[in-house]
Amino acid sequence: MNKINLPQAAKLTSPNPVSLVCTQKPDGLTNLATVSWWTYLSFNPNMIAFAMAKTSYSGEMVQNSRKVILTIPGAELSEAAMGCGSTTGRNTDKVAKFDIELAEVEGSSIKAPVHSRVAIVCGLKEFYETGDHYLYICDVEQVYGNEAEEALFAWNGYSQVRPAK
Ligand SMILES: Cc1cc2nc3c(=O)[nH]c(=O)nc-3n(C[C@H](O)[C@H](O)[C@H](O)COP(=O)(O)O)c2cc1C
Repeated sequence: MNKINLPQAAKLTSPNPVSLVCTQKPDGLTNLATVSWWTYLSFNPNMIAFAMAKTSYSGEMVQNSRKVILTIPGAELSEAAMGCGSTTGRNTDKVAKFDIELAEVEGSSIKAPVHSRVAIVCGLKEFYETGDHYLYICDVEQVYGNEAEEALFAWNGYSQVRPAK
């Protein structure tokens, strides 16, 4: 094996997961940010976690509202997922900009993309500083799924988003 750095390792582990972290902005609109670094944590009780850069607007929204929906975007959202991963909701309405159709989610005031394979409605339990990111540890409140949607993954590190097949 050759000695490599961690970003190079992330390329070697491609395809990596892709999620859209959905949060509610103070004006009530939904913000979406692309997040690869998420994981299941526990099935009893149901818990997940994701890591977001300290500078991300979504992180701020989760810290303020303590509510978040993590979705796995369907194949139709590949361009939107790249867009949501390269603009900040601080000064952009990404839903309008990338023409993303949203739906109400039972049990949450946050909306989620219609084309989602999975939607996990969460409450923030706690968060920890982890280098240049915060790790958000969440209690799962509801889970929704749609097998008809094909999940997206990140390829070549995080430079492309497309299905695994
Ligand atoms: C494929 C892909 C995966 C990404 N994964 C992460 C991630 O795991 N954590 C993170 O903080 N940012 C990740 N990003 C970058 C954020 O989506 C980006 O910084 C975004 O602008 C944050 O938006 P916000 O400021 O509205 O929260 C990823 C971007 C792409 C394109």
